[in-house]
Amino acid sequence: EETERSDRIAAAKAELGDDVVVLGHNYQRREIVEHADFIGDSYGLSKRAAEADAEYVIFAGVTFMAESADIITDDDQTVLLPSMEASCPMAGMAEALQVDAAWAELTAVVDDDTEIVPITYMNSYADLKAFCAEQGGLVCTSSNAHRAFEYAFENGDKVLFLPDKHLGTNTAHRLDQGDETVEWDPWDAEGTDASEIRENDILLWDGYCQVHERFRVEHVEQIRDDHPDANVIVHPECRREVVAAADEAGSTATIRETVENADPGDTWAIGTEIHLANHLARWHPEVNVLPLCGDACMDCNAMRQIDPNYLTWVLEGLVEGRERNVIEVAPEEKARAELALERMLEIQG
Ligand code: 13P
Ligand code: SF4
Repeated sequence: EETERSDRIAAAKAELGDDVVVLGHNYQRREIVEHADFIGDSYGLSKRAAEADAEYVIFAGVTFMAESADIITDDDQTVLLPSMEASCPMAGMAEALQVDAAWAELTAVVDDDTEIVPITYMNSYADLKAFCAEQGGLVCTSSNAHRAFEYAFENGDKVLFLPDKHLGTNTAHRLDQGDETVEWDPWDAEGTDASEIRENDILLWDGYCQVHERFRVEHVEQIRDDHPDANVIVHPECRREVVAAADEAGSTATIRETVENADPGDTWAIGTEIHLANHLARWHPEVNVLPLCGDACMDCNAMRQIDPNYLTWVLEGLVEGRERNVIEVAPEEKARAELALERMLEIQG
């Protein structure tokens, strides 16, 4: 059955030729990445989307990634998402309306001449990206969050980082500003101590990734006990103490590069979504690749929605002249969200 489906996907792609490009996130399952023209992290895929000439971009990833691809591609290009159920829960933790309300409270608490620059992680919806652009801020991914912070401090006094408090904390530590952060409860902004907001330069929204939050320091200790020669690399969406206990931290592209550049016989434990750890074990049999927490499967439910049957369905639809599961950002948000994404692409170069 799998071979038959794989043949159908390949046949539809062959028929569509240069009219279609399939972008696959590193967390997609094997049966999807095998058919992707590019496999990458959020940053790399957004660059690929910006450069793509194809009329159709099929995004094997989650909604916010497909939205970003729609924003960044030309108006005559169409972005399709194989499953409309593929929504990252973290992106839903900072809704633009709620951020708007919290922003009013924050700006009322700080002095008039204190400039707050909002930075939203790519894992957010287009209306929030638009909001950030409007307030002089930008988008970042895990591979360029530190540069976005630097940009913000060149252009303002404080950063409001959302939605991921762990990436925000880890980035602050990377820039030696770990003692300048304050986590506050956006659901209860009034209850937050105003002096803490005035005193700290990095304000963290209370969002998180439920996959990466499950990694614990005990997992790192366990792997070091079981494999004394193991190196540990984790994603910066993990808790601060997990990142501190690991040898390295980085985006999914950095994790891939680290294993690619490892010497044969080296051991690397991978603290991120399980599919990437499995791909790396398959792609690099010369390296001893281990999932950081053994059998406890760190599987992203949103990414898993992209079933190969849906990829087949969307591709075969195009062959028949039907556009299925089109992702289209509202025109009133698009231009501003694009500005926030362009600022990111510019700072990374
Ligand atoms: P990357 O940008 O590192 O690929 O991460 C995306 C993501 O959703 C991590 O959970
Ligand atoms: Fe969202 Fe976490 Fe899944 Fe990434 S791994 S898409 S942040 S839920």
